[in-house]
Amino acid sequence: MRRTTLGLGCAVLLMFGCAEDADTGGEDPGGGEPAAASWVAELPTGEAATGVPSGEMRSIEATPAAAQAGQAVYGANCVPCHGAEGEGRLGIGPKLNSETFLAAASDGYLLRTIGRGRVGTTMPGWGTTLDRGEVESVIAYMRSWQEVEPAELDEEPCEGDAEAGAERFREICAACHGLSGGGYQETSNGTGIGRSAFLADVSNGYLRYIVEHGKSNTPMRPFGRPEATAVANLTDQDVENVIAHLRASAW
Ligand code: HEC
Ligand code: HEC
Repeated sequence: MRRTTLGLGCAVLLMFGCAEDADTGGEDPGGGEPAAASWVAELPTGEAATGVPSGEMRSIEATPAAAQAGQAVYGANCVPCHGAEGEGRLGIGPKLNSETFLAAASDGYLLRTIGRGRVGTTMPGWGTTLDRGEVESVIAYMRSWQEVEPAELDEEPCEGDAEAGAERFREICAACHGLSGGGYQETSNGTGIGRSAFLADVSNGYLRYIVEHGKSNTPMRPFGRPEATAVANLTDQDVENVIAHLRASAW
């Protein structure tokens, strides 16, 4: 699977290679190292990656021209796992055109996720095969699916009790995400939310929002909204505890 994907990515690099050369005026040092790798190394890590200050949900200009370019990059690389219109393929690639997801995902989060991929899963790090402009255009294309305003995320530090959260996780989340949060590799259809590849790039605000509001049009229910869920209701403190558990046990 991974090999096929890299193959696809390389084909795209070849397709776009000429345009890149023109941009850099032939000054690309080359030497076998993919030129695109450098931009991923410059993306924020640590706290700068997991705490998105409010007001920075959008940093990429999603012009119609960028969205159109991004549609081509998306069509050539992402469709087998995420579907032609980002509808997702359960157990293969998560839904990308979910409105609660698009509302909660900042441009920075998408750039890091797509650039670095999710190590340990089938989601490749596209930073080695696509340049930053190409990935930004894909994000512009993804924004064309979005019909709602960016969410206002609560990015306060997490105040949860990890031990209490571990218990809730086992009771409620493990059925779909795996006992250790391994995701597809461990169970069926939930993503690998226990993996450090995910937790190193996601903010507390995103986690709070998705657990409370769910991921619309997927089996991921809104756990913090009693009127909308029959599976289990979590109090704000439960949500904090589960996030504390995820942060404490990331692997
Ligand atoms: C070989 C399958 C595969 C391909 C191809 C692929 N992805 Fe993914 N993608 C995944 C999987 C699997 C996950 C979830 C991994 C996990 O965390 O468990 C994922 C996660 C994501 C996420 C995070 C979604 C979320 O809910 O947080 C984004 C964004 C994403 N992919 C974008 C892309 C884009 C853009 C492309 C094309 C450039 C792409 N993917 C190509 C398999 C793929
Ligand atoms: C009924 C199954 C189910 C249960 C129970 C469940 N989830 Fe999910 N969750 C999913 C699925 C499926 C997705 C990915 C949806 C998709 O394919 O796009 C998801 C996505 C997520 C995401 C977004 C991950 C990403 O890659 O961006 C988070 C965060 C999350 N779940 C947290 C939780 C937590 C915490 C619990 C327990 C309180 C929980 N989930 C319980 C099915 C479930």
